[in-house]
Amino acid sequence: MLYGKTIVLGVSGGIAAYKAVELLRLLTKARAEVHVVMTKNAREFVTPLTFQTLSHHPVHTEMFDLNQEQEIGHISLADRADLFLVAPATANLIGKLANGLADDLLSTSLMATKAPVLLCPAMNTNMYENVHYQRNHRLLVADGYHLLEPISGDLACGWQGAGKLPDPQQIFAEACRLLAPADLTGVRLLITAGPTREELDPVRYLSNYSSGKMGYAIARVAAARGAAVTLISGPVALSAPAGVKTLQVTSALEMQSVLNENYAEVDVVIMAAAVADYRPAHKAEQKIKKNTSEFSLSLERNPDLLAELGQRKTGQILVGFAAETENLVANATTKLKNKNLDLIVANDITAEGAGFGSETNLVKLLFADGRQEELPLLSKDEVAAQLLNRIVLLLKK
Ligand code: PMT
Repeated sequence: MLYGKTIVLGVSGGIAAYKAVELLRLLTKARAEVHVVMTKNAREFVTPLTFQTLSHHPVHTEMFDLNQEQEIGHISLADRADLFLVAPATANLIGKLANGLADDLLSTSLMATKAPVLLCPAMNTNMYENVHYQRNHRLLVADGYHLLEPISGDLACGWQGAGKLPDPQQIFAEACRLLAPADLTGVRLLITAGPTREELDPVRYLSNYSSGKMGYAIARVAAARGAAVTLISGPVALSAPAGVKTLQVTSALEMQSVLNENYAEVDVVIMAAAVADYRPAHKAEQKIKKNTSEFSLSLERNPDLLAELGQRKTGQILVGFAAETENLVANATTKLKNKNLDLIVANDITAEGAGFGSETNLVKLLFADGRQEELPLLSKDEVAAQLLNRIVLLLKK
């Protein structure tokens, strides 16, 4: 989503400066090119070397450093930015910007940029509530700056209240939203992700290796592009994406019931979940004890959730995933037809870097009208973006 984008990350002097390190890691992982500008006070909290190492670029600190000016300069920094992001933004920085003051590299670059600016204020709660701060905050919003409200919680100064820098994941999601096209605004998406767990007894279950990364990436990217996203998630170790309504389920039958509750209200369904086809015919009330003889398990069929949705389509676009170990296109085409889908994403889960648990995926897109497209090995965010591009076109038809 951020591939090829240039982001200037301004860090001003507050204890939350350490969170900017994690934010930088998220931005570079998404393949954005990030240039960091630090104020003098920020350098009291975190060293420039940390940011330099993670961004792979020199950190900009001085207005009048001949080397830095020659290489890039504050005007050039400001010009190159697709997004100017400041986290944390102190009361002092907000005050300077609201009043048109520029006395160091960060405030000068901010004044010089025409890129969208996302400010993430963080400070002591009394400072945040202070009448002068609040006036400056309102002025900046009225002037078209994007301000991510701080959250409430325990502050480093010992106080409790508003003023805490939001989680880096949330700042990252907001940055993605500002840089993404808003081409899914008004579109309601229902996405499933992760495995289902079919309980055998109180301590055991049948499941699969799905990590949820693919479905969560689609939810995150769709939300950044303006969609209203409901994510139905099986048990995974991922945090709920910012701006997405996330509903947790465990078994295929629970997923079926939540899907049914939401189906009539949505425009698009994307089933990235790896739903178990079978569940134990009986769930033992107590832990099953071992004995010396063989043990066999009786299984019964779970419903095919996607095929059921396909049978009662009322205009929704239905997208399935097919996880295959052989005959990729033939097997996926059969699923596309049998489940009455508009599009199926076929992943050969035996290919390097594809399928369960990986950060990347290698997929073929098969459409109901017979078209086929092969995508190169991409990050799951990029697969999500490509898939959503195709869905935008299907919605236009
Ligand atoms: O979660 P990750 O670790 O990131 O891995 C991603 C993934 C490999 C899980 C994902 O990309 C993927 O391929 N998901 C679908 C896996 C799967 O269950 O494939 P399938 O061929 O068994 O099912 C085909 C389609 O029918 C799927 O959209 C599935 O959600 C759906 N289905 C399957 C069985 C069932 N009982 N009900 C269903 O709705």
